[in-house]
Amino acid sequence: MNIKNTDFKKEYENIFQQGSHLRIMADSLLEKENPCILECGVERGSSTKAFVWLAEKLNGHVYSIDIDNCSKVLSSKNWTFLQSDDCEIDFVLGAFKEVKEKGADLIYIDSYHENLHVEKLLNLYFEYVKKDGSIFVDDLDNIAFRKKKDIWNSIVYDLTDDAVKEFYYNNLEKTTYTKHFGENGLGNFYKTAKLFEKPNLKKKIWNYNIIIKILYPYLRKIKKLIKV
Ligand SMILES: C[S@@+](CC[C@H](N)C(=O)[O-])C[C@H]1O[C@@H](n2cnc3c(N)ncnc32)[C@H](O)[C@@H]1O
Repeated sequence: MNIKNTDFKKEYENIFQQGSHLRIMADSLLEKENPCILECGVERGSSTKAFVWLAEKLNGHVYSIDIDNCSKVLSSKNWTFLQSDDCEIDFVLGAFKEVKEKGADLIYIDSYHENLHVEKLLNLYFEYVKKDGSIFVDDLDNIAFRKKKDIWNSIVYDLTDDAVKEFYYNNLEKTTYTKHFGENGLGNFYKTAKLFEKPNLKKKIWNYNIIIKILYPYLRKIKKLIKV
């Protein structure tokens, strides 16, 4: 779509505010022909409505999944909703043939915010992203919960952030990764590998022991004392 088209531009900039995470995702679609978007997590449909608006303009399609019935959030010939657990990939791909056969330009993971779930979705859906397409993962930054001293959500967000980073480290040759801060954090896996290329099997990449990290300030002091 020619972003210089003033009517389109005005509405686009109104729906996708400059600097917002929705704008980052939408910008990634502007050069795509008939973009195919797969969204995990609809709820009241704020991201869905924005994606569908863009799909209508770009002659694309949005496929959305939610475990709850969100079929009434909007109506458009450019939108298909499926009530399902997003981990049920065979059921999802059975309903969304375009995603199964041609792949998606953008997958947005914004459903169950828990590290094992997000890791599972990345492993299941990565192969269905087209080359030069993206998987975006929402809610990777816990600052809002740290401000409220909400320990559980702070931990869950950190664990999800770690899981996403580990997925990236396992797939360095297949994707690049960018994390955007603000709005609870958004990760972007830009796929450099071909459509239908599966992610690598999970391997345990060495990391230091977390206890050493906690002890590090004291160990540093001891190290300095020994040197004197
Ligand atoms: C954060 S909301 C989605 C918000 C929406 N993307 C937006 O920006 O307006 C999360 C949604 O994920 C759904 N959900 C939770 N677990 C799910 C699962 N396993 N499969 C599919 N949807 C799930 C919930 O029902 C909820 O509606």
